[in-house]
Amino acid sequence: MSDAGVSGAGLGAFPQVRPRRLRRTAAMRRLVAQTHVEPSQLVLPLFVREGLTEPRPISSLPGVLQHSRDSLRKAAVSAAQAGLGGVMLFGVPAGRDEHGSAGCDPDGVLNVAIRDVVAEVGDAVVVMSDLCLDEFTSHGHCGLLAADGTVDNDATLAVYAQLAVAQAQAGAHMLGASGMMDGQIGVVRSALDAAGLTDTAVLAYAAKYASAFFGPFREAVESALTGDRLGYQQDPANLTESLREVRLDVAEGADIVMVKPALPYLDVISEVRRIVDVPVAAYQVSGEYAMVEAAAANGWLERDRVVLETLTSIRRAGAQIIVTYWAVDAARLLTR
Ligand code: PBG
Repeated sequence: MSDAGVSGAGLGAFPQVRPRRLRRTAAMRRLVAQTHVEPSQLVLPLFVREGLTEPRPISSLPGVLQHSRDSLRKAAVSAAQAGLGGVMLFGVPAGRDEHGSAGCDPDGVLNVAIRDVVAEVGDAVVVMSDLCLDEFTSHGHCGLLAADGTVDNDATLAVYAQLAVAQAQAGAHMLGASGMMDGQIGVVRSALDAAGLTDTAVLAYAAKYASAFFGPFREAVESALTGDRLGYQQDPANLTESLREVRLDVAEGADIVMVKPALPYLDVISEVRRIVDVPVAAYQVSGEYAMVEAAAANGWLERDRVVLETLTSIRRAGAQIIVTYWAVDAARLLTR
């Protein structure tokens, strides 16, 4: 190939193909944009702390709050007004024990919060709740501990079944099963069905990695985790393991499958999207949020553009739903 066409004065033969034509004006770019982020695809995580009368900031998640019962209701209303698809509720109890009993208590902080929020917003947004034990256990693990200190899978499943029924009876529309116990989706589905709660949906944290990006979440829920979660959450090195987890969860009755974290795992989202026919969600976790907020606070990144770029990339990878601490902000950026 000669380069004559490119450099030849006045010949104008090359480039014959000019991709820049479609980037020239805002209207042209809008016309050809392949990926859109809509507020209805975003889910806002909300923390409610037992015993608070005023909301309290979380230092590693600037802009995110531990809510009081009152401020939680208001936050849920704002989420609905912003047109979000859902809210995901996390409870922070005043006291914990090794069995995580507060989780199953109908008067426990999370179950009360579910009732409050559903009473406030009804069906205007999908009300989801975190179905896990780590917020409720004194040791901070996602399940009950066996004598040797490991998390006992099957003993934990029995508690997840009770948690599921308690949260569904409180009115949650969708349960986010995030504990990474084997068989959890099947057990939760059966427990709900046996209790006549057949309409409660299950969002499976199907591919959840043992990630250091969950760091700020620990502060948000005041978790005193001792040790790590490497024995039940997935190794960041693995991809096909996620596909196996996702297939199992779908077979067990998951209505939606989720990949978590999001941005460091776009390849996983994309592969999962290929192999399932249920909606795929991704959780843009606390550390992903904190990283950008910290850089933006230093003036090192343009926050709003970065926020939208990350959400667009997660959507482009194949996630149809995104759980993100920026949900309300992003909705505002998207509709202005
Ligand atoms: C488990 C749960 C965690 C997160 C959501 N659900 C913590 C963990 O598994 O260690 C993390 C979310 C985040 O980092 O934003 N209940």
